[in-house]
Amino acid sequence: MKLHDENSHLEESDKKYLWHPFTQMKDWLDEKPVIIAEGRDCFIKDIYGRWYLDAVSSMWINIHGHRKKEIDEAIKEQIDRISHSTLLGSSNVPAIKLAEKLVQLVNSSLASQPRRVSCSSSLTKIFFSDNGSTSVEVALKMAFQYWMHKGVEGKHTFLSLKNAYHGDTLGAVSVGGIDIFHKTFRPLLFKTYNAPSPYCYRCESGLTYPDCKTACLKKMEEIFRKHSSEISAVIIEPLVQAAGGMIVSPCGYLKGVRDLCTKYNVLMIADEVATGFGRTGKMFACEHEDVAPDIMCLSKGITGGYLPLAVTIATDEIYNAFLGEFKEMKTFFHGHSYTGNPLACAAALACLDIFEKDETLKNLEPKVELFEGWLKEISELLHVGDARNKGLMAGVELVKDKKTKEPYAWEEKMGWKVSYHARENGVFLRPLGNVIVIMPPLSISIENLKQMLKAIKDAIIAVT
Ligand SMILES: Cc1ncc(COP(=O)(O)O)c(C=O)c1O
Repeated sequence: MKLHDENSHLEESDKKYLWHPFTQMKDWLDEKPVIIAEGRDCFIKDIYGRWYLDAVSSMWINIHGHRKKEIDEAIKEQIDRISHSTLLGSSNVPAIKLAEKLVQLVNSSLASQPRRVSCSSSLTKIFFSDNGSTSVEVALKMAFQYWMHKGVEGKHTFLSLKNAYHGDTLGAVSVGGIDIFHKTFRPLLFKTYNAPSPYCYRCESGLTYPDCKTACLKKMEEIFRKHSSEISAVIIEPLVQAAGGMIVSPCGYLKGVRDLCTKYNVLMIADEVATGFGRTGKMFACEHEDVAPDIMCLSKGITGGYLPLAVTIATDEIYNAFLGEFKEMKTFFHGHSYTGNPLACAAALACLDIFEKDETLKNLEPKVELFEGWLKEISELLHVGDARNKGLMAGVELVKDKKTKEPYAWEEKMGWKVSYHARENGVFLRPLGNVIVIMPPLSISIENLKQMLKAIKDAIIAVT
């Protein structure tokens, strides 16, 4: 088949056989799809040979660039040993090594904050799964069952935040707070308590930070005061509510949530699926406010963006509550076929080594500085309501009217229009409604970062 015919065939077959996630397929069928064939560093190439800067890290997962030699080699080496074996009833070498490395990394990164449980109880037990949503399911089930084993009755629900996103499985959707994604499934979901989103630009109390004295925390405390006996855990995306529109919480908010959990005897689940592995400028977002959760969820960047893998990390205190005689039925009955997949664990080990070898976090500092300068500059634009970031995670919120903060109507697809325009100039974006999401691989060079930001600015100006 000639290349031209082959490409046309791929386009036709995509439309004939694929159902894309979070996509109105009727629109997709009318569009020319971008079909990626190759990647290199921070670039991805489509089947027609056009290169794009990967400004969303292939769905927020790529860290060190595409085809990173060390990760490629680690996977190939592992293939020569074994590609998969199970953690159900046996163990495997990369999973053990990765668990040890992660426990060291998490505990050296997070301060030994006094948690609800004893201070000596750090995050020490790794439970593997395959994606961010499953890491959240595991966390919710663990928290729920923990209280049962402790003999505390009635803690049958969770506290989650408006605008939260924790994945698409039904437990994760139950603790989600984005109507447009979640409301359809409401009849299938369990009940949760919802605290306000720390969304300063659109504060639901109409207040301004810091004069508000984080009133959203006070509202959370009201819920605790009335219902803490029913709440097994709070689940939170530390510092950035990512899919909610890259909403950056105000300084001290996360620490405030930790303190409330301690005060009201509720576990804290930090969902670092999007924020983990350097995205916010530190290895984990919790580090910014010296917060140590009781349970932590990690995925996305864990393998450098190569293979599906997730972990839920629990404290000794939680793990120990599940120990007992076989007949006591304290076992955690949860697991997946690909749990602890050796190829994915080998990729993750290589990814973590690169953080040290390439000094990824240190090299991030000038990039974040440049990025923040640019965000400040574009926040002056007529239709940019808010330009916010933490590290290399940013959201540029487009508005119809800057003074009144009136948003563009959802159906206007303004975010998409800007993204398509940027695509024409070689930058691949995927927006969240009216919010332009910018989240390049951490390894992006200063030169490529400048090129990317210029194309995005041009697109915003041209379209708005
Ligand atoms: C904070 C957070 N949690 C969980 C998830 C779900 O991860 P996955 O898409 O791998 O299931 C996401 C995905 O974007 C996320 O941002």
